[in-house]
Parts: sequence; structure tokens; C-alpha cells
Amino acid sequence: MYRKVAVVTGANRGLGLALTKALAEDDYKVFMVGRNKIEIDNASAKLQEAGLNVEGFEADVSKARHITALSSYVQSQYDHLDLLINNAGVIIEPGGLDSQVTCFTVNPDLVEEAYSINTVGALRLVQVFYDLMLKSRKPRIVNVSTGMATLSKMEGGWPAYRMSKAALNALTGVLAAEFEGTRMKVNSVCPGWVRTDMGGPNAERSIEEGIKGILWAAKLPTDGPSGGFFRDGKPIAW
Ligand SMILES: NC(=O)c1ccc[n+]([C@@H]2O[C@H](COP(=O)([O-])OP(=O)(O)OC[C@H]3O[C@@H](n4cnc5c(N)ncnc54)[C@H](OP(=O)(O)O)[C@@H]3O)[C@@H](O)[C@H]2O)c1
Repeated sequence: MYRKVAVVTGANRGLGLALTKALAEDDYKVFMVGRNKIEIDNASAKLQEAGLNVEGFEADVSKARHITALSSYVQSQYDHLDLLINNAGVIIEPGGLDSQVTCFTVNPDLVEEAYSINTVGALRLVQVFYDLMLKSRKPRIVNVSTGMATLSKMEGGWPAYRMSKAALNALTGVLAAEFEGTRMKVNSVCPGWVRTDMGGPNAERSIEEGIKGILWAAKLPTDGPSGGFFRDGKPIAW
């Protein structure tokens, strides 16, 4: 029997945890990636107790050797990978969504760190998995992005977050072009403003609502789009 296999980063909480559960309930084997061993082990143990086929793996997406180890582990078990959700992400500005930091005051070292997680982290995952993914019947990459990175109506504040996610969107476009002629579909998805630790309690959407558009891109049919930016399954401006 063909087993659908997925890797979800930032899977110990928030959207990543809910995505993992939804995918495992749809018969995917899900490798849950988290940078804190205790947290990812606890999160995966709870889902396993509920009978779901998931496995936690400790890895920081910004660390090359962690991602290489993750790839070796997945490849030791499966000869294909169907889905990669680059969900791990940070608003690195002190204060998170309440941050008052601007381009004039942001610590450039933090900007680099944001890129290394939000942008280069996703690239690292693609680099270690693309050949395994091309062995899938329906390979899909979803880069979890944000409307805050929309270049055509850019606003002030959260410079590290906005710039690193805009660069993640660029990665989506470059990858879609480079995967052309293959079965791969790669898209950016904004989940909307969601009540997670990042989004805060006043956000508009529940986690269940937030994951819907990501799952839509994860399960696109063969004639579905690639290289786009979507919210709720509909294109949005770059
Ligand atoms: N919530 C929203 O309103 C909203 C809106 C637009 C886009 N998004 C995007 O949605 C994604 C998920 O966010 P969320 O709302 O679920 O936020 P969250 O609850 O803060 O979760 C973020 C996840 O990313 C993980 N992470 C951060 N840095 C990592 C690293 N270096 N290596 C591995 N994992 C790392 C976190 O792990 P730790 O627990 O170890 O920190 C956590 O699991 C993010 O990419 C975010 O930018 C969210």
C-alpha cells in the first residue's frame, strides 16, 4: 500500500500541531519537526496515544546538521516524501505582534536570525528533501507565509518578519520555476490572523480555520496551481 508521508516543521504547537493532527487523521505518516526535544516528544506522544501515525524529530530549521539528520532519518524509512510544510516561523522582534520596532531601531543581527529561520530554514528543508519528493506521485511544498509580507501594499513595523517572509515568497516563485516540468507544486499560503501564541488571543480566526487554506495547498490536485500566493484557496497579491 502506498503510504502518504509528510514533514511538518514547527509542529509542537500552533498551526503546525493542528496541521499534523489533520494530516495524520487523513492517513498521512507525519514527521513532526520541533527544536525543543521535550516539547516535540510530548506533542507527538499525545497524538500517538490517540492512535495517529506521527513521529517527533528534534531539529532546528536554521541548523544545517539538524536538517541533514532529519533527512537521513526520513529516507531510512521511506522511499518518497509527498508533502513538506515549511510552517516553522518567528516574529523575532521583541514584543512579537505588539512590537514597536522599526527599520530605524531593529537589531540587524535579529534580522539575520529571522531570515535564517523563516527563509533559509525553508530552503534547507527543500534542499535535503527535493529528490525524495520527486519520487512522490503528488509532491507538494507549502510555505506558510503572511499577508504582512505583501510587497504591493507594504506597511511599517515588524521589519525582520516582513522582509524574511517576503523572501520566503520569493523562494516559492524561484522553486516553482525550477520545478517546472515535474509533478511538484509549491505555493505560499497566508493562514489569516490566527489565535496561536504568535497571533495572540484577539486574532480573527481559530486554529481550525487557519489550517484550512494550508491543507488546501497541501492536497492540490494534479491540475492545481504552482508558484502562487493564496489565502483560503484564493490568490492574493504578492
Ligand atoms: N498566527 C498567525 O496569525 C499567523 C499569521 C500569518 C502567518 N503565520 C505563520 O504561521 C506559521 C505558524 O505560526 P503559529 O501561528 O502557529 O505560531 P507559533 O504558535 O508561534 O508557532 C511557531 C512554531 O514555529 C517553531 N519554530 C520557530 N523557530 C523554529 C526553528 N528555528 N526551528 C524549528 N521550529 C521553529 C516554534 O517552535 P518553538 O515552540 O520551539 O518556538 C513553533 O512550533 C509561522 O510561519 C507564522 O509566521 C501565522
